[in-house]
Amino acid sequence: MAVGIVINRLVLVVAYFAGAAVVSSWLDDVPPEIASKLDSGSNATARFATDYGGVTRAANPAAVFHPSTADDIAALLRFAYCAESPFPVAARGNGHSVRGQALAPGGVAIDMAALGGGRRRINVSSAGMYVDAGGEQLWIDVLEAALRQGLSPQSWTDYLYLTVGGTLSNAGISGQAFRHGPQISNVYELDVVTGKGEMITCSSESDRDLFYGVLGGLGQLGVITRARIALRPAPARVRWLRLFYTDLGDLTRDQEFLISLPETTGFDYVEGQVLLSHQRVGNSTFYSKQDVDSINRLKGELNIIYFLEGALYYDSPSIADQKIEDLLKQLNFVPGFVFSNDVTYLEFLNRVHNEIQKLNSRDDDDSSSTAPLHPWLNLFLPKSGVRDFEAGILQNINLTGLILLYPLNKNRWNDIMTATVPNEEVFYTVGFLWTATVEDWGTFDALNNEILGFCDQHGIEVKQYLPHYTSKLDWARHFGSDKWEKFAQLKRRYDPKALLSPGQQIFN
Ligand SMILES: Cc1cc2nc3c(=O)[nH]c(=O)nc-3n(C[C@H](O)[C@H](O)[C@H](O)COP(=O)(O)OP(=O)(O)OC[C@H]3O[C@@H](n4cnc5c(N)ncnc54)[C@H](O)[C@@H]3O)c2cc1C
Ligand SMILES: *[C@@H]1O[C@H](CO)[C@@H](O)[C@H](O)[C@H]1NC(C)=O
Ligand SMILES: *[C@@H]1O[C@H](CO)[C@@H](O)[C@H](O)[C@H]1NC(C)=O
Ligand SMILES: *[C@@H]1O[C@H](CO)[C@@H](O)[C@H](O)[C@H]1NC(C)=O
Ligand SMILES: *[C@@H]1O[C@H](CO)[C@@H](O)[C@H](O)[C@H]1NC(C)=O
Repeated sequence: MAVGIVINRLVLVVAYFAGAAVVSSWLDDVPPEIASKLDSGSNATARFATDYGGVTRAANPAAVFHPSTADDIAALLRFAYCAESPFPVAARGNGHSVRGQALAPGGVAIDMAALGGGRRRINVSSAGMYVDAGGEQLWIDVLEAALRQGLSPQSWTDYLYLTVGGTLSNAGISGQAFRHGPQISNVYELDVVTGKGEMITCSSESDRDLFYGVLGGLGQLGVITRARIALRPAPARVRWLRLFYTDLGDLTRDQEFLISLPETTGFDYVEGQVLLSHQRVGNSTFYSKQDVDSINRLKGELNIIYFLEGALYYDSPSIADQKIEDLLKQLNFVPGFVFSNDVTYLEFLNRVHNEIQKLNSRDDDDSSSTAPLHPWLNLFLPKSGVRDFEAGILQNINLTGLILLYPLNKNRWNDIMTATVPNEEVFYTVGFLWTATVEDWGTFDALNNEILGFCDQHGIEVKQYLPHYTSKLDWARHFGSDKWEKFAQLKRRYDPKALLSPGQQIFN
C-alpha cells in the first residue's frame, strides 16, 4: 500500500531515481487534493520499473499515483498538462505487457488497481444486457459478477487476470473472436480521461472519434476509467476438445472450416497450438496419463505436430453430443486422436489460471527461483503466408516454447478503430509465448527478429499484435499511412503534449 508521503511544496530530493540524482521540479507543486495520493518512495516506484515480460528495465517512475476516483486521474493529468515541464503519465493495468508499454520512467505511473479503493466497480444491467466495469477491473471479476446474473461477455482473452482498460487498449483476443470479434468489437461506451485532463463519455454516437481511437489505441489518447461491455446469456457447461494433426494443411483447413460455421452448428471457441521438435506433452489438467503416453507415441520422431482446440458451450448434454458427433465427422484429425473434457463455463474460461496454479503447486519448494522472463512475439499472419511461414519458420525453430496458431475473420473487426490487422479476410494469430531466463532471453529475442526478418524478405505482411517498435517510421508502417495519419491527428487533439503511455514509444 501507499506509504502516503505528502509532497506539497516541500523540496523533495528524489535520490531514489534510477540513474539520476535530480531534484524534482514538478513534484513540488502538486495540488493538495492529489498530493497525498502520490508516492515517490523507492519501494513503490521500483515495483513499476518492469513488467510481466521482464526484459525491459526502465528507470523508475518519479512517483506512483493511487487514484480513488476518475476525478483524481483527471486532476493529475490537468496538472501534468499545465506543468512548466510536463511529465509523462502511464496507466498501469495489471502490468502484463511484455515490452515496457505500461512504464513511465521519470514520470507518474497510475496504479489503476487503487481506483475505487478496492471496491468492485462493476454494475451488471440484465435489462440492458451490458456490464459497466471500471477500466482497472480484472476480466475474471467482470465474469464472476456477470455470471451471478446468468450473463457473460462474449469475447475473451485466454487469461483473465488482465484489466479491462489494458486489453481494450490492444484488442483482446481468444478463441471466441472469430465469431464475436475481439473484445474491442464488444464495447458500447467508454469513460475516458484525455491527456489534457478532460473527462469524456464516448460511444459510436457521441465523441465517436475518441471512442474508436481509444479502442486498440495503445493508451495514447486517454485513460479508460469505465467501459460498457455487451453481455449475453451464459451457458452452463462446455465440451472442451483437442484434436491432433501431423500436417499443417489439414489443421488449417479444419480451423478455417470451423470459423466459417454459424453458431447453430459450429464450435463456440477455436484455437490451436504447435508442438515443436523435442517437445512432448507433459502433465496438464487436460490430459489423462494414458492420453499423454499416446500423444507422445504419435509425436515419436516427427518434427512438429499440431492440435486444434475447440469448445462447445451447452445447456443440454444430448444436443451437445449430437453437434460434436456431426462436427467430428467433417474434420481430418489423426484418427482416434481426439481428447475431451467436460467442464463448467467458468472452469473453461479460467483454464489458463487453473493450469498455472497447478504448475506452481508442484514446485512450491522452489519459491526462491527468480521470476522467468517472457520475450513474447505475437503476430497476425495473413492466410496467404501460412505455408511459407511453416516452411521458413516453424520447421526451423530450434527452441522450445508455447506456440499458439489459430485463424480469425477480418469481418469481425472494425477498421475505424485504431487496432490494425492484415488486409486479408482470414488471418492467423501466431503467438510465440517464450519462457526465458536472464541468461538466455537474448536467444529468443534474436529468433523473434529472425522471424520478423523472414516475413519481411518473403513479402508476408504480418502485423504485430501487442506491437513493439521504437521508431516513428516503424510505427507508421505498422499502421499504414491512412491510419497512422488519423491516429497522429487524434493524438494532437487529445494528448497534444504526448504525456500518455510513453512506454509504447510512439509519439515521444
Ligand atoms: C499470461 C498472459 C496471457 C495473455 N493472454 C492474452 C490473450 O489471450 N489475448 C490477448 O488479447 N492478450 C493477452 N495477453 C496480453 C494482454 O492483453 C496485454 O498484456 C494487455 O496489455 C493487458 O494487460 P494489463 O491489463 O496488465 O495492461 P498493462 O500491461 O498494465 O497496460 C497495457 C497498455 O495499456 C495502457 N493502459 C493500461 N490500462 C489502461 C487504461 N485503463 N486506459 C488506457 N490505457 C491503459 C498502459 O499504459 C499500457 O500502455 C496476455 C498477457 C499475459 C501476460
Ligand atoms: C522498503 O522495503 C524494505 C524491505 O521490505 C523495508 O525494510 C523498508 O522499511 C521499506 N521502506 C519504506 C520507506 O517503506
Ligand atoms: C455503479 O452504479 C453506482 C450506483 O448507480 C454508481 O455510483 C457507480 O458509478 C457505477 N459504477 C460503474 C463502474 O459504472
Ligand atoms: C506428471 O506428474 C506426476 C505426478 O503428478 C509425476 O510423477 C510425473 O513425473 C510427471 N510427469 C512429467 C512428464 O512431468
Ligand atoms: C539446436 O540447438 C542446439 C543447442 O543450441 C544445438 O546443439 C543443435 O545442433 C541445434 N540443432 C539444429 C537442428 O540446429
